Amino acid sequence: MTGLSTNLIHADDSKNRVSDIVTPINVSTTFRYDDDPSLLRAADEGFEEQEFVYSREKHPNQVKLEVIFDEILNGHSVAYSSGLAAFYGLITHFNPKQVAVGPCYHGCLNILNIHTRNFGLKQFSYSEEDLDKLQPGDLIHIETPLNPYGTSKSIKYFADKAHSKGALLSVDSTFAPVPLQDPFKFGADIVMHSATKYFGGHSDLLAGVLVVKSFEIKEKLVEDRMHLGSNIANLESYLLLRSLRSYELRINKQSENVAKIVKFLSDNKKNFKILKDLTHSSLQTEDFVKKQLPNGFGPVFSIFVESKEIAKQLPSRLKYFHHATSLGGVESLVEWRALSDPHIDQTLLRFSIGVEDPNDLINDLDQALSSFN
Ligand SMILES: Cc1ncc(COP(=O)(O)O)c(C=O)c1O
Repeated sequence: MTGLSTNLIHADDSKNRVSDIVTPINVSTTFRYDDDPSLLRAADEGFEEQEFVYSREKHPNQVKLEVIFDEILNGHSVAYSSGLAAFYGLITHFNPKQVAVGPCYHGCLNILNIHTRNFGLKQFSYSEEDLDKLQPGDLIHIETPLNPYGTSKSIKYFADKAHSKGALLSVDSTFAPVPLQDPFKFGADIVMHSATKYFGGHSDLLAGVLVVKSFEIKEKLVEDRMHLGSNIANLESYLLLRSLRSYELRINKQSENVAKIVKFLSDNKKNFKILKDLTHSSLQTEDFVKKQLPNGFGPVFSIFVESKEIAKQLPSRLKYFHHATSLGGVESLVEWRALSDPHIDQTLLRFSIGVEDPNDLINDLDQALSSFN
């Protein structure tokens, strides 16, 4: 089997159209029809589609991206204009009548709420009682590791629950992409990622991807995507291709960094008066966690501090963490999460760890937290 880093750099070689080593930026939204009139067929005469016609349907760098995603995500992938566009594609295609959903990215919940408003979609919790109500064709959606805490849920547990009712399990794996976690190995039916985060990795593009196990379903998702107008854009495709080349180096460094930082904070918790708690998969003791994340933990964790006022002040005392939302980029970020999530504990700060020297990040956290002692 070809390794992850080789696939990231070479899986799309067969789709090269020019001899350039770096795939060119391709901005054309439309492509010339055949010059030979005898080859032209009207749509109702069994029009034989040429590869590229209009970029809402398909364009060269999106095809290259999907070839790479197919290899590295172990399924049939469909690229979208954002993570939320991917989730919207999922809900539109599978069209469940009932969804079991718990805490997860609020944008995904907002999409479910639109479906509840427009079509009467029923939403349940993850309680045993609620999961028992699921019917064939329904959906369980989980996010693991979970935003903003960075903690894990057992994919296998939810896969077994869904399948015992003839329902499907979708997993938002944004917080621990390959090689950290492969939800298909634990029974997921659909995997989604906000590729804006780790795959993009430079905080300069929006993209999403859905992965399914069947080519027939991929084809249907692609058809819906064309009608919904949610294909990944030309320029973003170029940026994402560029990013994927170095993805493995970044995610492994980010994962190594977070393990060191969380260990430092956990070992020294008592030394920081304002640090009340911290959450991350590496601190969980359940057996499934290490099995699900065999190659390292996701680079996001959260801390709880003494008060809302301190949570507001801490970001400005850090030198190497930009105070901003989002995650997954090469630069470390901190966010007083109450700024973007109306339902969150206002003493929580979320950290997204980048690829800086971990000792610098640790020293920075040490001085900022100690400054309140
Ligand atoms: C876990 C998770 N899923 C989905 C999304 C939505 O992705 P996008 O911003 O690319 O639409 C986000 C965005 O922060 C996220 O954190």
